[in-house]
Amino acid sequence: MDLVKITDFVKAQLKNEKTGHDFYHGQRVAHLASKLYLQDNADARSNSRMVAIIQAAGYLHDTIDEKVCADPEAVLKQLTGLLAQVGFSELEAKDILFTMQHMSFAKNIEHRYQLPLSGQYVQDADRIESLGAIGIARAFTFGGAHGNVIYDPQIKPQKLVSHSQYRKHTETTINHFDEKLFQLEDLMNTVGGTKLAHERTEFMRAFVAEFKHEWEV
Ligand code: ADP
Ligand code: NI
Repeated sequence: MDLVKITDFVKAQLKNEKTGHDFYHGQRVAHLASKLYLQDNADARSNSRMVAIIQAAGYLHDTIDEKVCADPEAVLKQLTGLLAQVGFSELEAKDILFTMQHMSFAKNIEHRYQLPLSGQYVQDADRIESLGAIGIARAFTFGGAHGNVIYDPQIKPQKLVSHSQYRKHTETTINHFDEKLFQLEDLMNTVGGTKLAHERTEFMRAFVAEFKHEWEV
């Protein structure tokens, strides 16, 4: 299946995005999600439609995110047309759009949505993107763009229990590691995703330990 119309759409939609949700983030999610799926399903090369569904959702996932999109409803309408044009059936498009609308960490704080199998790989890949060296770079870029300080030892991490509290909460970027990032490895859907999330979380724990060590001069 040719996804070039989808990649062109994502490039145009996210061309001004500078907080870590740009085209290359979507591309890495698409690649990593399909790689994790192919690891679990040795015969999956014959199921190229499943790979196409995963890749389309991976590329597109942030184009309707309230953080980077002013009018998600309008983009959703465009996407319905685009997915049909590319050749996805109504059911396949339904899975892609459901995943995009329900995969975010914020939306799953109060209620954990059951994603289709394709979406479980996409959600794992997106969460892995918040971890490791890339996750650290994205967190400080996001924090800086939103005017947050790097660290303040007087501000303690909080337990964020609702979607709106998570979205409104301004914090230090170092606290974001406790408030979200270190929880992700326990929330993964797939075995391969869990393993990679664990490795990248260990790397981040070493980074935060070194950061706090350097702070205490
Ligand atoms: P989701 O889209 O799954 O709800 P988020 O919006 O929480 O996820 O996060 C998307 C990216 O932005 C992640 O890499 C995350 O670490 C980063 N991010 C979100 N909120 C903050 C924050 N307050 N400080 C630093 N980085 C953040
Ligand atoms: Ni994302």
